[in-house]
Amino acid sequence: MKIVIKENYEEMSKYAAEVIASCIRAKPDCVLGLATGSTPIGTYKELIKMHNNGLDFSRVKTFNLDEYLGIGMNLDKPYNEDQSYARFMYEELFKHINIKKENIHIPDGLTKEPEKFCRWYEEEIKKAGGIDLQLLGIGGDGHWAFNEPGSSLQSRTRVIPLAKQTLDDNYESFFKKSGISRDEMPRFAITMGIGTILEAKNILMIANGERKASVVAKAIEGPITSQITASAIQLHSGNVTVVLDEAAASKL
Ligand code: GLP
Repeated sequence: MKIVIKENYEEMSKYAAEVIASCIRAKPDCVLGLATGSTPIGTYKELIKMHNNGLDFSRVKTFNLDEYLGIGMNLDKPYNEDQSYARFMYEELFKHINIKKENIHIPDGLTKEPEKFCRWYEEEIKKAGGIDLQLLGIGGDGHWAFNEPGSSLQSRTRVIPLAKQTLDDNYESFFKKSGISRDEMPRFAITMGIGTILEAKNILMIANGERKASVVAKAIEGPITSQITASAIQLHSGNVTVVLDEAAASKL
């Protein structure tokens, strides 16, 4: 595992974007696993700058980690103002780069048949040849994607109830500003499993801020446990890069 500590959020984001850009340059039709949350926003901004300087996404395929159940958006009609991860990805990255719509995969939060959808999603990842590089943040309770504490480290894409801390964190960061009440926020999500994530050939985890320091230390230095699902990072046998700012690295 390679651990890179950068001075601040901006430098962390630049480094992470360079790892992703190198993957695209080495394999222009690579398959990227993408993440949401406030952490990757800076990385996406850097990738947009690189795209404006020639980085080509026209053959890149993407698979997002997760989506809230009950919300979502049609990329053909991106007008709604919901807090879906589909809209987040469209606003923060996809609308700014030359990725093809048919190459974008995001769990469908509006599916009427979630279990069938989850099986289909796993198949699509396989058909694409697997994920070359998976970008990940880490939740306040140590989760990867929405694999809340207690999730099996072999879990696959599935529906999951969100833990209280995740609901609280994501309400504060995202849902509150859209004016909906805490009770109206989705309580379930579709998430890639830890087993699914570990099949990615390369892993890139990013974290910033003091708020993440203790959970980052637990994930990369503590015991491997389903109580901190990001600790599965220690099980990955390929290239694993963790990029932190100094605050997030302060408890290592
Ligand atoms: C959500 C996402 C995770 C993300 C986490 C951290 O729960 N499902 O993939 O890592 O938030 O979010 P933030 O980057 O806002 O701290």
